Amino acid sequence: MKQEKLIKLVFKAAENAYCQYSNYQVGACCLCKDGSYFLGANIENASYGATICAERNAVFAAYSNGYRKKDIEALCIVTYGKRIGSPCGICRQVLAELINQDTPIILANKEEVLITNISKLLPMQFSKEDLD
Ligand code: THU
Repeated sequence: MKQEKLIKLVFKAAENAYCQYSNYQVGACCLCKDGSYFLGANIENASYGATICAERNAVFAAYSNGYRKKDIEALCIVTYGKRIGSPCGICRQVLAELINQDTPIILANKEEVLITNISKLLPMQFSKEDLD
C-alpha cells in the first residue's frame, strides 16, 4: 500500500478512538506483507491505567489473527496533534517484543511524516534474551 493511502486510512481509524478523558485521538495500522492490515485506535477507561494505546491495539489485532513479526511490513501511527505522536514507553516495550527491530514505524500528523524503527525508539532493550 502506498504511504499516502496508508496514512489517510489511519486517520480514519483515529476517528474511532474512544478518548473522552484525553480528547487525544490516535490511529494505528499494522500493515502485513500479504497486504492485509489491522487498524487500531486508542480506547480509554475511567480507570486510566486500563486504557490501551492505538498501536498496541493494531499489533495485537495482527497477532490475534495469526500474524507474527516476520509478516509485518510496517506500523503506522497518526495523531492530529501539533507534534508528531511518538509511542509511549509501554508501547515501545510491546513493539520491541512483537515487531522486527528494523520494521519501519511511520509516524505522522497532518503536517509531516517521520519514519523510524524500534531499535531507534528503544535502545538497550529488556527482552527474552535477558531471561534465557
Ligand atoms: N496514546 C496512544 O494511543 N498511543 C501512544 O503511543 C501515546 C498515547 C493514547 C493513550 C491515551 O488514550 C491518549 O493517547 C493520551 O495519552
